[in-house]
Parts: sequence; structure tokens; C-alpha cells
Amino acid sequence: MNDMRKIEPDVTKTAAKITAREVNVHYGDTHAIKNVDVDIADKTVTAFIGPSGCGKSTFLRCLNRMNDTIDICRVAGRIELDGRDINHKSVDPVQLRAQVGMVFQKPNPFPKSIYDNIAYGPRIHGLAHSKTDLDEIVEKSLRRGAIWNEVKDRLNQPGTGLSGGQQQRLCIARAIATEPEVLLMDEPCSALDPIATAQVEELIDELRQTYSVVIVTHSMQQAARVSQKTAFFHLGSLVEFNDTDQIFTNPQDGRTESYITGKIG
Ligand SMILES: Nc1ncnc2c1ncn2[C@@H]1O[C@H](COP(=O)(O)OP(=O)(O)OP(=O)(O)O)[C@@H](O)[C@H]1O
Ligand SMILES: [Mg+2]
Repeated sequence: MNDMRKIEPDVTKTAAKITAREVNVHYGDTHAIKNVDVDIADKTVTAFIGPSGCGKSTFLRCLNRMNDTIDICRVAGRIELDGRDINHKSVDPVQLRAQVGMVFQKPNPFPKSIYDNIAYGPRIHGLAHSKTDLDEIVEKSLRRGAIWNEVKDRLNQPGTGLSGGQQQRLCIARAIATEPEVLLMDEPCSALDPIATAQVEELIDELRQTYSVVIVTHSMQQAARVSQKTAFFHLGSLVEFNDTDQIFTNPQDGRTESYITGKIG
């Protein structure tokens, strides 16, 4: 069992779920993120859009300290989850990543059974006290991942044997199994066909009832369909952040307008 404590909310602050202030990221000499300030709301889907290389994935990875795993990457600035500094030395990044889960572009199930893909996180974080508990967590997570009906009779078969869309929903279910508060998704549908994409988008809309969701997408249609807030990044800067319908119907910055009308990117 792991006795690292979760980040508990600072109740003296009632701000956003995540606040980022003056975040700068360098890879060696490359200045990838420049003075980004943003507030990410709870129970909301926030989309990050912008041309390739503008820093969307880099900034997303700041939110659960995935950049710690990249040697040459240096992150500066302050990022708070529920008012607590996520980069403070008392924070265990493994525990943080259970609270701020991540789903990647390419579905990446573990080479284990469907059951064990989901059970892995709850086991290492000590969330189940018995086999019955664990069975319940697995079923609940697969149901929330909108894939239970497709896998309930084959839980002992490998996760890698599922279709791409099923694998991605399995990975979402796996992220949910550790009871995260925030879900980060980096182009979660880019390897999926339109039907699987629609299923994942529907799932994202449901997840919003419970979680704060941040999704990176190259599809403006997808951002418009699934998000309530949109952040437009360009050359490492956060150019514009607003309600999604405002960004798409009435952008305030010429660069945002050029991007959404297809002139840059
Ligand atoms: N591991 C890395 N090592 C060195 N430079 C990196 C690394 N990852 C990203 N970069 C650089 O940081 C900048 C931002 O990259 P990032 O991957 O965050 O962009 P992105 O907006 O997610 O692009 P895309 O839409 O193509 O995924 C780019 O200049 C990129 O070359
Ligand atoms: Mg990216």
C-alpha cells in the first residue's frame, strides 16, 4: 500500500480546478511554452487547439508532471490543483498522475488482460481491499468507459486484442479506475474511425458530469462539439482563451481567426 497523500483542496481558495501562472517550458534551448496563464474549470471540457508544434502537448503534460520524464525538459512557473502547488517537493508525481489522469493519442493498453489493465492502478494505489472490491472497480470503470458490454465476457483476454476504438475506451476506463479528478486527453481520437470517434466524444460529454476534462485536438469540429472552453495556442503562447462558441464565432485575435478559418496551421 502506498501512503503518499493525495493533494487535498486548499479550502481557502475557491478558484478553478487547475490554475497555471507564468508557465514557461524549455527543451534545451527551445522555448516551447511562453508565459502561459490559464484557469481550467471543474466539470467542463476545455479544448487546446493550435498549429502543429505550438506547444499543446507540452503544456498538457505540465498539468500532471509528465514532462518530468523528459530529461531535457525544464518547467517553470506555478501550477495549482485545487489551490495546491503540484510541483511542490511533497507531491508524489505518481499519486498526482492518478488524480490527473492521461489518455494518449495512440491507444496503449498494457500487454495484460482487459481485467488487469483496469485493476493495475487501483492495486498500486491501494484502492481495493478485497477481490470483490476490485471486481467492482473494474466493472464500474469499464461501464463508465462505455465498453463494459463489449468486454464483459472476455475480461481475461488481452487488452491488445481489442479494436483501436475499443482499446482507446479501455485506456479511458483505465484512467478512470484510479478515481481521477482531471482527465487529460492528447488527440484521443486521431487513431480512430468516425464511429469510434463519435463513441469517445459521447463518452467525453458524459465524463464532464464528474471530471474536469482537457482535450488536445486538431479537429475544430471536435473542439466545437465536445468543449465548453477553448484555448488557442500559437508559437508557444496562449493567444486566446474563451467560451468555445465565442472562439469559433467571434475570435478576438487575428491569429485565432486565421487558424479557425484555415489560414494558418
Ligand atoms: N521531447 C522533446 N524534445 C525536444 N523538443 C521537444 C520535445 N517535445 C516537444 N518539443 C518541441 O516543443 C515544441 C512544442 O511541441 P509540442 O509537441 O508540445 O507541440 P504540439 O502543439 O503538441 O504539436 P502537434 O500538434 O504536432 O502534436 C516544438 O517546437 C517541439 O519540437
Ligand atoms: Mg501534440
